[in-house]
Amino acid sequence: MEYNVTINNKKRLIIGMSGASGATLGIEILKTLKKYPDWESHLVISKGAEQTILEETNYKLIDVINLADKTYSPKDIGASIASGTFRTEGMVIVPCSMKTAAGIACGYSDNLLLRAADVTIKERRKLVLVPRESPLSTIHLRNLLSLSELGAIIVPPMMSYYNKPASIEDLNTHIIGKILDKFHIEVNGFNRWGENAIY
Ligand SMILES: Cc1cc2nc3c(=O)[nH]c(=O)nc-3n(C[C@H](O)[C@H](O)[C@H](O)COP(=O)(O)O)c2cc1C
Repeated sequence: MEYNVTINNKKRLIIGMSGASGATLGIEILKTLKKYPDWESHLVISKGAEQTILEETNYKLIDVINLADKTYSPKDIGASIASGTFRTEGMVIVPCSMKTAAGIACGYSDNLLLRAADVTIKERRKLVLVPRESPLSTIHLRNLLSLSELGAIIVPPMMSYYNKPASIEDLNTHIIGKILDKFHIEVNGFNRWGENAIY
């Protein structure tokens, strides 16, 4: 058996949703992963994200939970994803609040989302952060630099213009395409520069 293949032959991706604006991005990533039977999503939603989901989307918490293959309470620090022995392909934190970025940068793992990120770093697995704040303070930038130096991939949800987005959905698709590209997951509608006829 290959090292990175799980018992049921599914690749596991941890999705952490924290309380930054952009809950829709986390939801859309969960919906995308559902289309790929070879991937399994393991979701942890912070208390902050519970609030942003309600404030920013039409989803109830239970609807988001039902999009994932497995969902953990942020309080459950003994869950499987809290251990490096539980094999995963890595973790995406989308959206990533500045508080969560600070917690990971300092190794302050007082909830399951932070602990899973800490484990992802110590196991040298892929960690993708989608931080959202504007403007960014020097504290935020320092923490993001530390995380980048530790190997995390920082993918802020920045608007793109070259693909001529016609809607927020187009903007979201482009960002989601960039995030999941790091795990070689193809996103429908993600336009790559130089590969599509529309340019
Ligand atoms: C509607 C709403 C939007 C927010 N947007 C952001 C944001 O874009 N970036 C951020 O860092 N924090 C944002 N916050 C604040 C975080 O939710 C707050 O700092 C929280 O403690 C983060 O905790 P968590 O990382 O454990 O989810 C927002 C809060 C609310 C209620």
